[in-house]
Amino acid sequence: MDKAVKAIKRADRIAVLTGAGMSVESGIAPFRGEDGLWNEFDPQEYATLSAFKRNPEKSWELFRLQIEECLSADPHEGHRSLVELEDHGLKAVVTQNVDGLHQEAGSETVLELHGTLAELVCPSCGSREETEDHLDEIIDGNIPRCECGSMLRPDVVLFGESLPRETLRRSQRNAEETDLLISIGTSAVVQPAASIPTLAERTGSVLIEINPEKTPLTPRADHFLEGKAGEKLPELVEQVKG
Ligand code: OAD
Repeated sequence: MDKAVKAIKRADRIAVLTGAGMSVESGIAPFRGEDGLWNEFDPQEYATLSAFKRNPEKSWELFRLQIEECLSADPHEGHRSLVELEDHGLKAVVTQNVDGLHQEAGSETVLELHGTLAELVCPSCGSREETEDHLDEIIDGNIPRCECGSMLRPDVVLFGESLPRETLRRSQRNAEETDLLISIGTSAVVQPAASIPTLAERTGSVLIEINPEKTPLTPRADHFLEGKAGEKLPELVEQVKG
């Protein structure tokens, strides 16, 4: 912890990469591991582009659960610590999460690599709507429809789809320009998000990882803070401030 604090104090530019583990203490299930969503929902059947085209009702079973869980969740201390870290050099939070909790906590620059559940898009005409405006019908088990008649879907990235190009480009640029990257609560196995720390490393960045478990990134991390985001982040940022 002490060495990580010193490294943060030395850095001019800091970037953060977050994954599902960041939101676990807000009550949102991760994807992998014992309580992971992918144990209950086979991603090939629910979360690929072809699965959605084949059987949108089935994909909506997963979307409904995610929307209910994420839209009612609140940020925790760890999210708020990242807002405070902006006074100490944090330039951007690159996130794989689709729950909007970094923005809700007040983070200035959030790059949502996998999209957001807060908006719905029409696969036919491209029109966009606020998920909040359709919440009641979604909770009632219905699938919201666009004015053109097609079924809407959340604006999240499904397997087999490209990531939003400009968001990916800005995330990669932040990684390349950063002095220090903190990877928090990600299993670091899904590309291209998993290559964000690699890009930072290649340009000489210090790497800090926060996770209760070891990941493929751990052997390459300069400082591994073993523990939960909601505990380690407040501790880390308090010491940086002190
Ligand atoms: P995963 O579910 O793969 O990994 C969650 C990570 O969080 C694991 O490494 C856990 O050890 C860790 N973790 C659990 N509780 C934690 C806590 N309280 N604090 C910190 N860490 C904790 O989630 P992601 O890495 O985000 O993509 O998964 C990446 C992508 O795979 C997701 O964005 C999603 C999924 O398939 C798409 O749906 C496109």
